[in-house]
Amino acid sequence: MNDINMTYEEALSHAPNEEPARQYFFIERCQDMLEKLKESSGKEAFTFHIATFGCQMNSRDSEKLQGILEAIGFVETDTEEADFVLYNTCTVRENANDRVYGRLGFLNGLKKKNPHMMIALCGCMMQEEKVVAKIKKSYRFVDIIFGTHNIFKLAELIHERLEAKKMVVDIWEGTDRIVEDLPTERKYPFKSGVNIMFGCNNFCSYCIVPYVRGRERSRNPEDIVEEVRQLAADGVVEIMLLGQNVNSYGTSSENPVSFAELLTRIDQVEGLERIRFMTSHPKDLSDELIEAMKKSKKVCSHLHLPLQSGSSRVLKIMNRKYTRERYLELVEKIKTAMPDISLTTDIIVGFPGETEEDFQETLDVVRKVRFDSAFTFIYSKRTGTPAADMEEISPDVVKNRFDRLLAEVQKISAEVCGRDEHTVQKVLAEEVNDYEKGLLTGRMSNNTTVHFKGDPSLIGKIVDVHLDESKGFYYMGTLA
Ligand code: SAH
Ligand code: SF4
Ligand code: F3S
Repeated sequence: MNDINMTYEEALSHAPNEEPARQYFFIERCQDMLEKLKESSGKEAFTFHIATFGCQMNSRDSEKLQGILEAIGFVETDTEEADFVLYNTCTVRENANDRVYGRLGFLNGLKKKNPHMMIALCGCMMQEEKVVAKIKKSYRFVDIIFGTHNIFKLAELIHERLEAKKMVVDIWEGTDRIVEDLPTERKYPFKSGVNIMFGCNNFCSYCIVPYVRGRERSRNPEDIVEEVRQLAADGVVEIMLLGQNVNSYGTSSENPVSFAELLTRIDQVEGLERIRFMTSHPKDLSDELIEAMKKSKKVCSHLHLPLQSGSSRVLKIMNRKYTRERYLELVEKIKTAMPDISLTTDIIVGFPGETEEDFQETLDVVRKVRFDSAFTFIYSKRTGTPAADMEEISPDVVKNRFDRLLAEVQKISAEVCGRDEHTVQKVLAEEVNDYEKGLLTGRMSNNTTVHFKGDPSLIGKIVDVHLDESKGFYYMGTLA
């Protein structure tokens, strides 16, 4: 039974204990509460807006949060002048945090004008005690704070907020649970992220992710394959398998299935055309995986393989568990097996104690591997990580190295990226180009962007495109 006239306490005592049934109970109650609010306020709809910071994990989480909000009856809007605004935050580098605080001030202004407005914060930043303490103290207008482990509870938290009428804070330190089968929305009808694992056990010495995302947990392979099957049946042609270190998929499970084996099973799903995955940790990339990628017709011709540093000395202090030589050997093996593959990477500049020689070694690896593109980051000190206790190097030196690295990376990218000019390639048409009328934008298997003339009805389809001209990081093409 779920009668809207029940008191809050009665509702809590009637709520099922098992998930996801408990959340469906609260979704239903929130639906009724929202209807009542609509009546009393005379508003036709209650809107929501989610702003997502950070990585694909967060984007996928936001789709789940959106699914719950829509199930309750909120209607999406693309501005922050909404009745329910949710920030799904990231804390991987300090500048991510600063952006959130800045925008909260702006939200407060909006809230003063809209008495129904609720502001919720979730995601990695909320897993840090000092952040929650600061919000409780200086941002009292925030309504709901929750973390990374309990996003499935959104309906229950909204219910509590509406009943208790005070700030609701629910942060879990960790979890061993994976709650399946809640409503979820997709941003694109034709492509989707699929979580295969949560958390991280690697504790790279600079990185906060293991502290805010908890220990590594892999989903059951059967659940993953079933989800992919349903997505494919629903028109999804491309999936991105998500995990902080997909190469260690399954190792924490009772009946381990390797990532390579999982890929092989997903490869057989009918209707699915492209498989991507992120992120691969070099230390766990197996020969079996290279073989599985090579054999598969669906796995895309792209591998993101974070390097972080090209100096074995720095890699050791970073706790990355591979050396410069091992990384280069791995790249060699991958390029031999798949000569057309596009390699991308992440690099951190200015890790504590990084010397000019260390930096030169990074530049050297960049020149040897010739990445299609590289995300370069300035080291950011994260509280609680081992590197936070190490002595930082001068910001001027770091900035100078960063500029030199970026110039090198861009020069190589421009040379490498044009290699498919004047060929015909399969392109997944993804969206209408915002800048030029009549153009569509899509991606090749190796993740390069292509703009070409085409009808919007092609969106979601994989089409043959002649690459007329390379523009460095993208191509201009025509339908073949
Ligand atoms: N699990 C992935 C990376 C997740 S974080 C992996 O291991 O590759 C994404 C990227 O952010 C990292 O690859 C790293 O380059 C960067 N990063 C993480 N912590 C950082 C820090 N403290 N300062 C600067 N960059 C950082
Ligand atoms: Fe962070 Fe390392 Fe885990 Fe990646 S593997 S999330 S860099 S600790
Ligand atoms: Fe940021 Fe959390 Fe992803 S810290 S990079 S959103 S896992």
